[in-house]
Amino acid sequence: MFQILTMLLLETQLYVVSALFTVEVPQQLYVVEYGSNVTMECRFPVNGSLNLGLLTVVWEQKRQGQTKSREVYTLRNGKAFPPSQHRDYTERAVLLHSELKLGRAILQITSVKITDAGSYLCLIDYQGVDYKYITLEVKASYKRINTHVMRKPGEDKFVFMCQSEGFPLAEVFWQNENNFNLSGSANTTYTLTADGLYNVTSILTLKPHRSENYSCVFWSKELNGGTSAHISTLALMSTQYSGQKSLILFIIPTCVMVAVLLSALLIFRKRKSFVNGQSKKDRKRKLNPNLKDENRDDFNSQTEALYLSTVTASRDSGSVGL
Ligand SMILES: *[C@@H]1O[C@H](CO)[C@@H](O)[C@H](O)[C@H]1NC(C)=O
Ligand SMILES: *[C@@H]1O[C@H](CO)[C@@H](O)[C@H](O)[C@H]1NC(C)=O
Ligand SMILES: *[C@@H]1O[C@H](CO)[C@@H](O)[C@H](O)[C@H]1NC(C)=O
Ligand SMILES: *[C@@H]1O[C@H](CO)[C@@H](O)[C@H](O)[C@H]1NC(C)=O
Ligand SMILES: *[C@@H]1O[C@H](CO)[C@@H](O)[C@H](O)[C@H]1NC(C)=O
Repeated sequence: MFQILTMLLLETQLYVVSALFTVEVPQQLYVVEYGSNVTMECRFPVNGSLNLGLLTVVWEQKRQGQTKSREVYTLRNGKAFPPSQHRDYTERAVLLHSELKLGRAILQITSVKITDAGSYLCLIDYQGVDYKYITLEVKASYKRINTHVMRKPGEDKFVFMCQSEGFPLAEVFWQNENNFNLSGSANTTYTLTADGLYNVTSILTLKPHRSENYSCVFWSKELNGGTSAHISTLALMSTQYSGQKSLILFIIPTCVMVAVLLSALLIFRKRKSFVNGQSKKDRKRKLNPNLKDENRDDFNSQTEALYLSTVTASRDSGSVGL
């Protein structure tokens, strides 16, 4: 039990006369977020102006499942008494002195830790002794979720990872866009950080059918629900896709340019041969009639196709220019 209670029992015998002296708490339970500040308050009666020299305030903390209590802050006969303060509260726990004259013993703890949770005793001795208990709960929601996705080397599978820190321990659920539960394929592990937080890592390995988005949910009843992160396979797919895209962007203009040049050349040659007249053609035909006929038909259809492509290409470039 609290060490101070032994002392208290002795003192109450001495102060039987001041049975009317009572300490009160406006709030019995405080629930705060890890890393934030908290102020917990006890009230005591002050008649007129406060005689600080007669005032003793003791705040002690006891963690759940632990037998020994820790001294958080002590004011003895109006003076702070740091030597007895537990080192975990050094420079983190203060009594708001300006509030004492109003009969308020307010303890402020900054940068709340997981280990700050527990039962707090506030004992006040001011021409009478009384005490009350206050409960402090500390929560750390899984705010920042780190995500990672990669292709499993040498396999057709993807590895999705979600990692986050919080308190208390959360479960991790996985689902696809249609809220289909994929948690069965996941492996969730955790470690404890030096700050007493759970470092939870969940790994989902599967073979996606198409570019689909997945989400992981860190869920805890104590945190009134959960936080989630979305992972898109698009990131992986898009690296390949953009590679193809840039290649296409390079190939198309090259093809168009080659086609334009070729068709220009062919038209030029066709005109030239037309000007040169039939005589030359006839002469060639006599030398190798069968082969040349086949080739000429082939050649003409190709020229036509190329010519068409030149027209469409030039139209395209025209619209780009506009
Ligand atoms: C907590 O208190 C400290 C000291 O009073 C202050 O510097 C800090 O900004 C406070 N933090 C929050 C989250 O209010
Ligand atoms: C407050 O103090 C005055 C004298 O200083 C006394 O007469 C009065 O009874 C006290 N009241 C209480 C509630 O203690
Ligand atoms: C889950 O992961 C841990 C560590 O990465 C590993 O030791 C364990 O065998 C895995 N469990 C399953 C069921 O894959
Ligand atoms: C949490 O675990 C991951 C590996 O699972 C590690 O990379 C990271 O450093 C850990 N974070 C902390 C604060 O311990
Ligand atoms: C996946 O999410 C991204 C944005 O995060 C969105 O642009 C995309 O359309 C989603 N994919 C599917 C298949 O819904």
